[in-house]
Amino acid sequence: MAGDIPRSIRLDALAYGGDYNPDQWSEEVWLEDARLMREAGVNLVSLPVFSWPQLEPQPGAYDWGWLDRVMDVLWEAGVRIDLATATATPPSWLIRSHPEMLPWDEDGRRLEFGSRQAYCPSSPVWREHVARMTRAMAERYGEHPGLALWHVSNEYGDHVSRCWCPESSAHFRRWLEARYGDLDGLNDAWGVNVWGQRYTAWEHIEAPRRATGPVNPTQLLDFERFSSDALLELFQLEIDVLREVTPDIAVTTNFMSLLRDLDYWDFAAAEDLVTDDAYPDPADPDAHVPAALNYGLMRSLKGGRPWLLLEQAASAVSWRDVNVPKAPGRMRIDSLQAIAHGSDGAMFFQWRQARYGQEKFHSAMLGHRGEASRSFQETKAFGAELQRLAAVRGTRVRSRVALVVDWDSWWGSSATESLPSQRLNWLAQARAWHAALHALGHPVDTVRATGSFDGYDVVVVPNLYVADAAQAAALAAFVARGGQLVVGPFSGVVDATETVHDGGAPGPLRSLLGVEVDEPWPIADGQAERVDLDGVGFGNAVWSEWLEVHDGTEVRARYATGELAGRAAATRRPSGDGAGAAWYLSAVLEPAGLLALFREVLAAAGLPVRSPIDSNLEAITRSDATTDYTFVLNHGRDELTVDVPSGAEDLLTGIRTTGRLTLGRFGAAVLAAPRADTAPFITLSDTLTPPTEAP
Ligand code: GAL
Repeated sequence: MAGDIPRSIRLDALAYGGDYNPDQWSEEVWLEDARLMREAGVNLVSLPVFSWPQLEPQPGAYDWGWLDRVMDVLWEAGVRIDLATATATPPSWLIRSHPEMLPWDEDGRRLEFGSRQAYCPSSPVWREHVARMTRAMAERYGEHPGLALWHVSNEYGDHVSRCWCPESSAHFRRWLEARYGDLDGLNDAWGVNVWGQRYTAWEHIEAPRRATGPVNPTQLLDFERFSSDALLELFQLEIDVLREVTPDIAVTTNFMSLLRDLDYWDFAAAEDLVTDDAYPDPADPDAHVPAALNYGLMRSLKGGRPWLLLEQAASAVSWRDVNVPKAPGRMRIDSLQAIAHGSDGAMFFQWRQARYGQEKFHSAMLGHRGEASRSFQETKAFGAELQRLAAVRGTRVRSRVALVVDWDSWWGSSATESLPSQRLNWLAQARAWHAALHALGHPVDTVRATGSFDGYDVVVVPNLYVADAAQAAALAAFVARGGQLVVGPFSGVVDATETVHDGGAPGPLRSLLGVEVDEPWPIADGQAERVDLDGVGFGNAVWSEWLEVHDGTEVRARYATGELAGRAAATRRPSGDGAGAAWYLSAVLEPAGLLALFREVLAAAGLPVRSPIDSNLEAITRSDATTDYTFVLNHGRDELTVDVPSGAEDLLTGIRTTGRLTLGRFGAAVLAAPRADTAPFITLSDTLTPPTEAP
């Protein structure tokens, strides 16, 4: 396929299916599976993810027969294949002939074979065999009519995302050499004059294993970057083989939601389709809120293009301490949530529940009780329902709000113990800021700190610890064109080498925000301070900062208690023409405080806010050129009544709306209406006033 035309999955419907492990079952069961898949509306399965040992039982001696047969059985049943390259786990013979490819932990201990993903990402032997196996798979099945998508490896970074072995150290040194050119460059970047860390030979540098005390923070940050890059190289190696042998087939690897260890901006750029594995905990009634942030990331990784939820659980997982099943209806609403957020389908781990091994207690679409199992009944019912949503395939989510996700800042603010406080947590901040915007009714995209911010009215940056001039310029341009920007605490602190910006934080953001941080002022454990915003006090238990405020910057909130009482806590600096503004929040406010602040920010951007709020209500619009598809979801068990535009058709029921909609426990509607200039904004009904009907 020509260079810039994106390859896409070969499937002309919303994807429905799951991981399939036929090598755990007999041929008789395969035939039954094919029948039941057809009955359930399954049109795509992922396989053979962990089957390298079954495909190449002895070095160089392949056994394709069983997989040939499975692929044909599935194809005849109308089920397409997300074909794994089978490189997620090495066979034992490879490990035993090359034990040096096993990964090491931070303490320099070699991890044993006996689970999965037992490889060092940098191992040359592993890389050689991965390329060989990928080529063998591509040559064998590249022409198979059922092949819909390449599934490379599996969840890079699951189990092993960093390796501290000698091979990794050598690879780390090569990576550092490419980054810094010479040892002087590295020594300067790492600030080695502190604690006598100067290096006089490349061979002296190791992966940062556990040391006598806190390790050089820039070494740690570079090791995070390197480790993400090492796995990306491994991914790219397979992509290169697949593009050579099967240039028309789209490639993916399944992500693990908002994962710290890998820079998914880089991974997504290398592949054709973003896919994600998401396991919101059914025991957590608010799990759909961080899930919404994950999905916002997934759709944003390729600029709003549809993605695919490749794994979720039909009911319980088996890897938490306590694995609570999904209550009836929960799998459906979780699946609809992913689709609402731009997923072109809903897939599962796995199709048939295993009877042995590590995952025998993990639920599946087809539970141990087979056709009679509740999971199969719900699978079948949802498969039928999905047919009614065919029109949403390929449409895009409309969002006016974006949240900056920056892996460098995540790593930098968490890799080292040498920080003002260990309590300021990058992920917790991102989730809290997103949760407030979610509660106020806005789906949130994610974006890099350099943009593009086109199409957004509000951009929030929960944390940008590592910041540079290019990011500052992009954010300033957003404000200059009328955007509302909100930046969170401990931002603009260091440059890419973890050197504190001249003059301190917020470094390159100083003139944009119009503030200077004299000193971060973390709050001691157990102490609860307060921030005053418009006369209301909000809890602040983690972090504060001594701010100096420039002329022209308005103070919007002040510390109300503690040493900083009376000083600025949140500020707002209007753009030259007053239309845009750059807000700075130096505290970690309790949720109600964030809600209060973001209400103001959204209002300043001219965006509606939901009032009253109920975080169980979620409304998201996917659109094409002519139609808006508004998903209205009730993630809770209590009934919700919402005001909706009249005259839209609920695709799930075929019924037209008359202005008000009541959604029961885990209830959902997908409202199709002609495309409007702005996506419908759905609010809870004021049940005291009668519904207004469209004229
Ligand atoms: C994923 C993995 C699957 C399966 C699943 C269970 O992390 O990709 O193979 O183990 O978890 O929840």
